[in-house]
Amino acid sequence: MFFFFRYGPAVQKRKKELGVVEFMKAIASDLDAAGFSELRTHLVGDLEGKILEVGSGTGATFHYYGAEANVTAIEPDDDFRAASEEAAHNAVAKISVLPGSGEKLPFADATFEVVCASTALCSVASPLRTLIEFKRVLKPGGRLRLLEHIRSEHWLAGPLQDLVNPIWLRLNHVGCNLNRKTVETVGEAGFTIHSIENHKIYCKTAPATFPLRVIKAEKSF
Ligand SMILES: C[S@@+](CC[C@H](N)C(=O)[O-])C[C@H]1O[C@@H](n2cnc3c(N)ncnc32)[C@H](O)[C@@H]1O
Repeated sequence: MFFFFRYGPAVQKRKKELGVVEFMKAIASDLDAAGFSELRTHLVGDLEGKILEVGSGTGATFHYYGAEANVTAIEPDDDFRAASEEAAHNAVAKISVLPGSGEKLPFADATFEVVCASTALCSVASPLRTLIEFKRVLKPGGRLRLLEHIRSEHWLAGPLQDLVNPIWLRLNHVGCNLNRKTVETVGEAGFTIHSIENHKIYCKTAPATFPLRVIKAEKSF
């Protein structure tokens, strides 16, 4: 929370100067330098086969897929999608980028081996509906990989996130919520959770990004 108040004004100034797309690229690059890079590698670096990435933004994750990954990315925002398309050209993996939203995916049931998202469930309108859609488009036994910032379990930090969230939502322009209970929602959507890793990345240009969780789960039925 301290980071949020201390660095928030400077972050807003930078966003005004750069415009939203360049700002998001700059943030992704700062985050990578602060340790996100390892987490993104951990999230997608070993994946092969048919993969869906939802909410790809400027395509910050694309660089981390290996050559055997065949990725379809969904991004609803036109400007971010254009940036994602550019990033897709420079990636080693085969990546195509489509419009769409996580809550209503334009794919048949059981299409993908893996669905992944990085800091996207904070932004979708309904995380539960989105996760249920993820489950629908996954093949039986398909894997879910998430890298998400969540509502803190700390007795004070969690309620503070709740308090600040309406202001944060108005300021960030990507619909990002500070206080999503994503681990619980993954369970509610019916996934079998295999691992939840706790991470903290301190990056003064992105004050909303901790606490972080890497969640690995499976569609087991
Ligand atoms: C914080 S950005 C994260 C971008 C990228 N995944 C990354 O790691 O840098 C959240 C992204 O989710 C997208 N988004 C918002 N609502 C969405 C929805 N309903 N379905 C899919 N993506 C959505 C936003 O347009 C934005 O690109």
